[in-house]
Amino acid sequence: MSPEVVAHRGASTLRPEHTLAAYELALRQGADGLECDVRLTKDGHLVCVHDRTIDRTSGGAGTVSAMTLDELRRHDFGSWHGGEPAEVLTLDALLGLAADHGKRLFVETKHPVRYAGLVERRLAEELGRHRVDAVMMSFSVLAVHRFKKLKPDVPTVLLYDRLWPKVKPHFADYAGPGVHLLRRHPDRGQGVYAWTVDDPADIALCQERGVRFLATNNPEETREHLADNLTPDQP
Ligand code: G3P
Ligand code: CA
Repeated sequence: MSPEVVAHRGASTLRPEHTLAAYELALRQGADGLECDVRLTKDGHLVCVHDRTIDRTSGGAGTVSAMTLDELRRHDFGSWHGGEPAEVLTLDALLGLAADHGKRLFVETKHPVRYAGLVERRLAEELGRHRVDAVMMSFSVLAVHRFKKLKPDVPTVLLYDRLWPKVKPHFADYAGPGVHLLRRHPDRGQGVYAWTVDDPADIALCQERGVRFLATNNPEETREHLADNLTPDQP
């Protein structure tokens, strides 16, 4: 089986990350799933922003957790990348898009943050309002644990960056190594979520080693590489 292709921050090579345009392109490119990072605004909305601040990915500046949704909406999240002007994307809107297209959405909660466990509580509430196939992820063991207690039926991924222990905690359904860790431990690839996989040699490694979910910034090219690598009798 080839890995499922997960669009990392949308089709973020070609479109500004975490914008509607990036996710719509990923869907047109045939991504199997979508990935996003979420942060909580000052007035309690989950928005799709990777960094603590909006300085890198918008025309403005400031810390997400210190701004209201209305304040964030005054900034353009598209032009920095050469794209069309774009509003900050709420998780609510992205959940709606994923549900409409029947795609799995991988939601990563960022930590440490000012609002700590409130982020997972708000995520659990939002998932309750949408009929969507969601997966919760985090580098924070505590965050994955507390989310699992809130929403036992939603699959979880514990992400790994520097070290990848052989055994994962029981509340994590999948291990989520960076692809640099998979290169170091190729024998552990079966059934994992690997990120961020854009290089053809890494794509081939994921395929050979039975990776289940492959997060990439470029879903179209990744799908082409996966198809090229298949031998005629492979699914
Ligand atoms: O998909 C997991 C990956 O996104 C984790 O790293 O920094 O890109 O959020 P980062
Ligand atoms: Ca992420």
